[in-house]
Amino acid sequence: MTSNEIRQKFLKFFENRGHKVIPSASLVPENDPSVLFNTAGMQPLVPYLMGQKHPLGDRLVNVQKCVRTQDIDEVGDNTHDTFFEMMGNWSLGDYFKEEAITWSYEFLTNKEEGLGLDPKRLYVTVFEGNEDAPRDTEAYDIWKKFIPENHIYFMSAKSNWWSVGENGPCGPDTEMFYDITEEGLGDLTIEEYKKADDEQKVVEIWNDVFMQYEKKDGKVIGKLTKQNVDTGSGLERVVMAVQGKSNIFETDLFSDIISKINSLSSSFDEKASRIVADHMRTSVLIIADGALPSNTGRGYILRRLLRRAVRFADKLGFKNGSLVEVVEVIINKYKDVYPEIIKNADKIKSEVNGEESKFRLTLEKGLKEFDKGVSPFDLYQSYGFPIELTLELAKEKGIEVDVDSFNKKMEEHQKLSQTSSAGMFKGGLAGHSEKTVKLHTAHHLLLAGLQTIVDPSIKQRGSNITEERLRIDFICDHKLTDEEKTKVENWVNDRIKENLKVVRREMPLVEAEKIGAQMEFGAKYPDVVSVYFVEDNNGNIVSKEFCGGPHVENTGELGHFKIQKEEASSAGIRRIKAVLE
Ligand code: ALA
Repeated sequence: MTSNEIRQKFLKFFENRGHKVIPSASLVPENDPSVLFNTAGMQPLVPYLMGQKHPLGDRLVNVQKCVRTQDIDEVGDNTHDTFFEMMGNWSLGDYFKEEAITWSYEFLTNKEEGLGLDPKRLYVTVFEGNEDAPRDTEAYDIWKKFIPENHIYFMSAKSNWWSVGENGPCGPDTEMFYDITEEGLGDLTIEEYKKADDEQKVVEIWNDVFMQYEKKDGKVIGKLTKQNVDTGSGLERVVMAVQGKSNIFETDLFSDIISKINSLSSSFDEKASRIVADHMRTSVLIIADGALPSNTGRGYILRRLLRRAVRFADKLGFKNGSLVEVVEVIINKYKDVYPEIIKNADKIKSEVNGEESKFRLTLEKGLKEFDKGVSPFDLYQSYGFPIELTLELAKEKGIEVDVDSFNKKMEEHQKLSQTSSAGMFKGGLAGHSEKTVKLHTAHHLLLAGLQTIVDPSIKQRGSNITEERLRIDFICDHKLTDEEKTKVENWVNDRIKENLKVVRREMPLVEAEKIGAQMEFGAKYPDVVSVYFVEDNNGNIVSKEFCGGPHVENTGELGHFKIQKEEASSAGIRRIKAVLE
């Protein structure tokens, strides 16, 4: 069975059980400055897990693109990667443990509708209980119907409690593992099972989270209004189990990429070629979703991945400019699953080429300087070495690095703390703050203002909101005059003063398109969408936009709106940064 067939089978299996298929969200979360990348299928669904009604109903399924870089050092072993696809099914207050577990088991083992994996090779863990929630004997009893007791283990919250970050929905989970050894492990005691897990003889292939609690500032504060199910099954690992491979790099998801890397290498180094394959795949998918290499936030993570790939490609003896050949294989592999990759193919190639040639100019010299003991800050400043790369080189050679002094110099250099990246690196999903919610509503008014005052054909092309300001990119053929800026500002402030209602409505996509609701150019939407309206007491509509929210209830809450800057973003695209005072 190919990876493409597995994706399709998963969606079909849950569609046949009343689930609606939703598209993968972008890797780059919209309007959430606290998160760099989507790290789980549930992340774009948080408002719905917290109680908001989803326009497509309470059973959903999809395959979501995810990026997690916290285990970047482990990439090169059998199972770790920085980009992965998570297959997931959700119950938003509908079915609970019985159906979730039964369907997971059936999909994994059923020969016709599912993957036909060997039930004797399955092991599962369930939550042992603590002060937040009781021991999950219910999940245990359901599992007992399918697999023997000496394949089921009670484990602590450390492994069997799931949440994303310090705030939001959470709950106990049950995790499924598959034995990938040739001989088969058979029955295991809990100690034997833990050892097999450490040795990667069993790999986690699915996690069913029973989300019924809420966390605030790291503490469980109570139950949610509904009992939800959030599941996540890592495609790469499932493919590995189905295709009978002992590592993800031998599956059909990676094998062509690895072959290409081998053909471009002049020496053999398995770990290096796996790192290049992984980092290039992640970089290609990130650029396809709109992020570009830079020195802060997500751009920094991307740059770090690309530069690490260049370093290992160099180790393998790649010629300058040949990484793009790897890019082509990756584009080919994913173009039918994620069409945004083919739309952005030229941009992806030129960004990779640019980053490779820039870094190669200084890589060799930087490596020499490193050997001479040059400071990490100078390596960063003069040779473009991300600090993590310097730390890695130092570790390989058993040298200590003074990270504190590096951080201090960085802070002095670019006031890093002000870029908001410092907080963002921690990952996790912070709740939407009051300030970002207000800026979000101001953003809608600004777009309507631009269309009213400047040009009705103006379309949004991108947006970003931080605690401090909003930013909108829009298609427009000229620089705004001072008069236009003042008029737009006044228009928005007048709408604020009018205390207009902000209302959310759900409607079929076709209807929302018919009434001309604003949508982001190039974005994908499901069949039923949520639209936010700003309207006066007579029902006259001031703004209507496709949007997941959240927003304020009344424009009067916003304060004074001010445009800080208007500039070119790229050809034909203008950018405005604005604040609320
Ligand atoms: N949200 C759960 C996970 O990522 C399913 O493991």
